[in-house]
Amino acid sequence: MKRRTFVKLAPLVALAPAAVQALWGKVAFAKSHGGKSGSGEVPDFAEHMLTSDMNGTGPDGKPTGQTATFTGASKAGATADSASAKMKLTADEQAILDGKEGPEKAKLMKILVMFGEAFGATKLVDLGGAPHSNLYIGAPYLASLIDMLEQCAAAGLKSYAPYTVNPRPYDVYNVQNNPTDMELIYQGYPEQMRLDWVHSKLGAPDLNQRTCACYIDDIGNRPEPGTYVAWCESSAVNYGNSALGIRTNRYGAGMEMVCAMLGKAPLFGLMTDEGRKAKWLIDVKTTKEPDWGVLGTAIGRKCVEDVPYVAGVEQYFGGEVTNDNWHKLKYMGSATAAAGAVGLYHVEGVTPEPKEKGRDLLAEDFQTYVYDDKEQQRVIGTFENLWPDKDGDPTAVFIGCPHCNYEESVRWAKMIVDALDKAGQEKTAIPVYIFMPTVTRTRILMEESELAGRAKSAGVSYTNMCAVSYSGMKGFSERVRGVTNSAKNRNYSSIRYFPDQKLIDIMLSGKI
Ligand code: F3S
Repeated sequence: MKRRTFVKLAPLVALAPAAVQALWGKVAFAKSHGGKSGSGEVPDFAEHMLTSDMNGTGPDGKPTGQTATFTGASKAGATADSASAKMKLTADEQAILDGKEGPEKAKLMKILVMFGEAFGATKLVDLGGAPHSNLYIGAPYLASLIDMLEQCAAAGLKSYAPYTVNPRPYDVYNVQNNPTDMELIYQGYPEQMRLDWVHSKLGAPDLNQRTCACYIDDIGNRPEPGTYVAWCESSAVNYGNSALGIRTNRYGAGMEMVCAMLGKAPLFGLMTDEGRKAKWLIDVKTTKEPDWGVLGTAIGRKCVEDVPYVAGVEQYFGGEVTNDNWHKLKYMGSATAAAGAVGLYHVEGVTPEPKEKGRDLLAEDFQTYVYDDKEQQRVIGTFENLWPDKDGDPTAVFIGCPHCNYEESVRWAKMIVDALDKAGQEKTAIPVYIFMPTVTRTRILMEESELAGRAKSAGVSYTNMCAVSYSGMKGFSERVRGVTNSAKNRNYSSIRYFPDQKLIDIMLSGKI
């Protein structure tokens, strides 16, 4: 590939599966595979992925001109010249590149070297822990990427460790067990079986483990602090870097699998001490506990993909992150990663790095953003009502994006059942969906069977799918007027966002 062509593709490498597919096709590879990949062109749809609303605003509220590169490594103002780094490979890595371990691995290595050099990396590092993949949608546009994975699996390649994968995009057992949704699934995800199968061949465990919250106790993908990994899934990257202290950049779907099969990643951005410095001090001065999703949205819009250092919220965590309070970080962080492209945040007195290094984590030229009651209200005021029938009543409640852990799922079931009992009501007025991995659902059924049974008969479904995939289905916004506690889900769909207590009221009354 000519250098110029690659530089043009570089931002896509970080973002879109199409880019990995395109590179796989473009890197010289003599063997004919007979699959559909290898056109060498970025599909038309991918062009639009370069256009994003992830543009920064400065302290004065005016645009800064910064746009996200989607790696989590801020490259504001990056030019083609910034892709001029030259990777120094070890003898073993060079041997792989030279084809000593087969043509497939050589091709993966070439992709990884090109990707790293585009972001200024000069070396690869060995990965530890376990990978996490967000390649979870068996949509037609991923066919050539699935071809690539199949070719690797057929050549005997595997992830260096068993890895976790995002939730599947539908749940035909608990939610979409109706002909309309079945038809849409059949049309929308014709590659799902092939994708699930290749994940299985490359080292992913069974479908009961599928979740975006791969780090919760029931799944256990929690690498030690400081471990280099290659994770893909904005909310998992964001939580892992921040709350677990692991070191990963934000990868576009597919690139994490390239890293997983080589057991290596280029060292740059959020994997370095320098890249983990905070360019923003977020000074939270709300008179009560902030709304975590709104705070995260505000931070994402402000910082785009710079690292924020959040101060003023330590008292809401009682000194440590636990299974009972982690969801605050989850909802804040995932919103920073959805409204912006934040791959790492520090929370003073709460997350591991500021606990150790304090405000030394602030970059020299950091800016300050004050988030007070007035600012919170201003941000809430920007949350539009996108329902086609704006005055209609809500028709479904969505809890948990990212997925809930055991404690959060039980807490919601209790809150709902208690509210129903207090109101003397048997059932919720509209269906409620709580999103969690199947293993967590099973655990609740076993350990809290009475509560789970009562909640289920009242109208609550425990579902293992991706909330946003469900709410992004064709025609969904015309069929469903959803409400949610997830600012991430709100960011990507027509679903409206409300605080927890308000959601309970809505569940019981069916009214806003
Ligand atoms: Fe998880 Fe899907 Fe939300 S993968 S974070 S439930 S968008």
